[in-house]
Amino acid sequence: MITPQIRPSTGAAYSRIHGVGGYRPVRVIPNAEVLNWIDSSDEWIRTRSGIAERRWAGPEETVTEMSVQAAGKAIAQAGIAPEQIGGVIVATVSHLKQTPAVATEIAERLGCGTAPAFDISAACAGFGYGLSLADGMVRGGSAGYVLVIGVERLSDLTDTSDRSTAFIFGDGAGAAIVGPSETPGIGKVIWGADGSQKDVISQTQAWDTAFAKDDAVNGAGDEVKWPALRMEGQTVFRWAVWEMAKVAQQALDAAGITADQLGAFIPHQANMRITDAMIKALKLPDSVPVARDIVETGNTSAASIPLAMERMLEAGEAKSGDLALIIGFGAGLVYAAAVVTLP
Ligand code: UT7
Repeated sequence: MITPQIRPSTGAAYSRIHGVGGYRPVRVIPNAEVLNWIDSSDEWIRTRSGIAERRWAGPEETVTEMSVQAAGKAIAQAGIAPEQIGGVIVATVSHLKQTPAVATEIAERLGCGTAPAFDISAACAGFGYGLSLADGMVRGGSAGYVLVIGVERLSDLTDTSDRSTAFIFGDGAGAAIVGPSETPGIGKVIWGADGSQKDVISQTQAWDTAFAKDDAVNGAGDEVKWPALRMEGQTVFRWAVWEMAKVAQQALDAAGITADQLGAFIPHQANMRITDAMIKALKLPDSVPVARDIVETGNTSAASIPLAMERMLEAGEAKSGDLALIIGFGAGLVYAAAVVTLP
């Protein structure tokens, strides 16, 4: 018998971002408040990281709630109905309930019918990872439109007594609708992972160790040591500055775009000095606007790129149709970069 051939699945010729939206928690934490927890100064935090304030979510601003708000704006800008969404991808490392995926609840809240919905864990590269998957789904024919969300409540994983991380993280959600396009709107995603550096940014311990009722594991008594985020700041800093500029250049080359053709540079908002070093390494002309959302938002991991993208569009610093270079990098270590057309 001749082995029957599977009918090829085909989707749109190309994909692009049709809409973007963000949600920023109400509570603002200025550097002055951080100084109640750690021995530091407003000047040190500003000059070393670029951060002046960050937003921290309140009890009502859950991962689901922030995501629904951000997604609602992205859906409205895309001009589609929630029922047209054929996939929901949520990138997060701070949804503290492991199963079910928070994406299923978000899809249900938004009215996305039975669209497949799942979470991915790719830290600060999560939005780029999600974008790559969504692009493949739209072009492969398994979805018409895909909702990609980057959302974090990093305040839940922050040890406010840790001088090297207490000032850096923030909360928020950013969302994008990826859908069909007649022209290429998402360049080849350059992504990767380097597990040999898995301990450079990570939780202090696994949940089972943290909650072990065993003195030999957890020290005297039954005190639970919350698995907060720890980071070897300098190691990550050096890696980001040296290696990520190369990855960003690869994304430009793969898209056939030169730095001077960009309408925006939107790196993960990790540290303003990392952004400035990348600008130098890429020889980005002064005429290209750069996302500097970190000043008021801190480092929101998976949410940082879509949040910064929304801000630049709203502020008129970049406009719909412009080409933007995005790059995310973080715990894993993982990274993802691409040139995209702004919605
Ligand atoms: O989003 C995922 C990816 N994450 C990143 O990309 C973050 C990358 N890393 C960074 O952004 C930076 O490493 C930090 C902002 C976290 C830290 O900045 P740094 O310039 O690397 O500081 P450092 O750790 O090298 O410390 C420099 C000095 C030290 O003092 P001495 O040894 O020079 O006297 C620290 O003790 O600053 C001191 N220091 C502080 N001083 C005031 C460290 N933390 C603080 C603090 N306030 N909070």
